[in-house]
Amino acid sequence: MKRIINEMKLRLPALSVNEAVARSVISAFAAELNPTVEELGDLRCAVSEAVTNCIVHAYKQLPEGEVGYVYISVRLYDVREVSVEISDNGCGIENVALARTPAYSTGSSERCGMGFLVMESFTDSLSVKSRVGKGTTVLMRKCFS
Ligand SMILES: Nc1ncnc2c1ncn2[C@@H]1O[C@H](COP(=O)(O)OP(=O)(O)OP(=O)(O)O)[C@@H](O)[C@H]1O
Ligand SMILES: [Mg+2]
Repeated sequence: MKRIINEMKLRLPALSVNEAVARSVISAFAAELNPTVEELGDLRCAVSEAVTNCIVHAYKQLPEGEVGYVYISVRLYDVREVSVEISDNGCGIENVALARTPAYSTGSSERCGMGFLVMESFTDSLSVKSRVGKGTTVLMRKCFS
């Protein structure tokens, strides 16, 4: 049985500045497991994509002046594994399988629909759960060498 050796919860307003904040805080926290620079870089990329999705997509229907939140929960395990759960209470995703298809995007033209693929490639497992009108939860696990 793997054991949790440290955990952290974070709640950030869904503002674009907080993509970098989440990335930095989570990588500093995971550094306790002494990952390689490459492993940490992979984790940072995956976190960036998940948080960016909350910021860009989840709360796009919120009335002007209201701000949603991104909820992050990070756990370190004694088997050199980190889990990162990133949730929002936003619009949700109607068809998760479709949303995970590479190059699928409902965003503006600068979005390429590669976020989920990046999360999947840079971690060891990715699960996406979503309910329309309730929100989305992305759970990623990464094992360090
Ligand atoms: N947290 C979320 N809330 C609501 N919809 C989401 C969320 N995350 C992803 N989606 C939906 O899934 C689609 C695919 O997401 P993905 O991150 O792969 O691509 P993208 O964000 O559109 O583009 P890119 O990440 O390449 O800039 C999005 O276009 C959006 O429709
Ligand atoms: Mg994205």
